[in-house]
Amino acid sequence: MSVLIGKERRIIGFLCNWCSYGGADTAGVGRFTQPTDLRIIRVPCTGRINPLFVIKSLLGGADGVLVSGCHPRDCHYAEGNFYARRRLEMCKQLLPAVGIDSRRFEYTWVSASEGQRWQQVVTAFTEQIHALPPIPRIAESPDLGVLEQCG
Ligand code: FES
Repeated sequence: MSVLIGKERRIIGFLCNWCSYGGADTAGVGRFTQPTDLRIIRVPCTGRINPLFVIKSLLGGADGVLVSGCHPRDCHYAEGNFYARRRLEMCKQLLPAVGIDSRRFEYTWVSASEGQRWQQVVTAFTEQIHALPPIPRIAESPDLGVLEQCG
């Protein structure tokens, strides 16, 4: 599998501690080749992710946001990923309303044993982000500068 060569993009990954973070670790231990654009933020569960984390990341200059957690019915807090799935799907639907291409955000499920699946997910998402133009930075965009003044 090819690795993207050239300029990196800023991609934020919110990964649940119990499954997807383990999956990313398994991919690393297995030495699966993967793009280096992703910056991982470990969270206890996808249920902890407020959709504002996604929106603020994208408005703050991230080119893409990937959320990954335990497969449905495998959440260590029983229902966290069910709540997350509802919130994150709603967030994805609302992104165009704030001027953000919804292809910049994805959510998925990867277990700790799925190192190879993690490699495929992160590679496909990174390629998707590279196919889009870099996201305009708030400071560089006169239209979005007003948001920065609002705090
Ligand atoms: Fe992984 Fe809830 S603990 S999604």
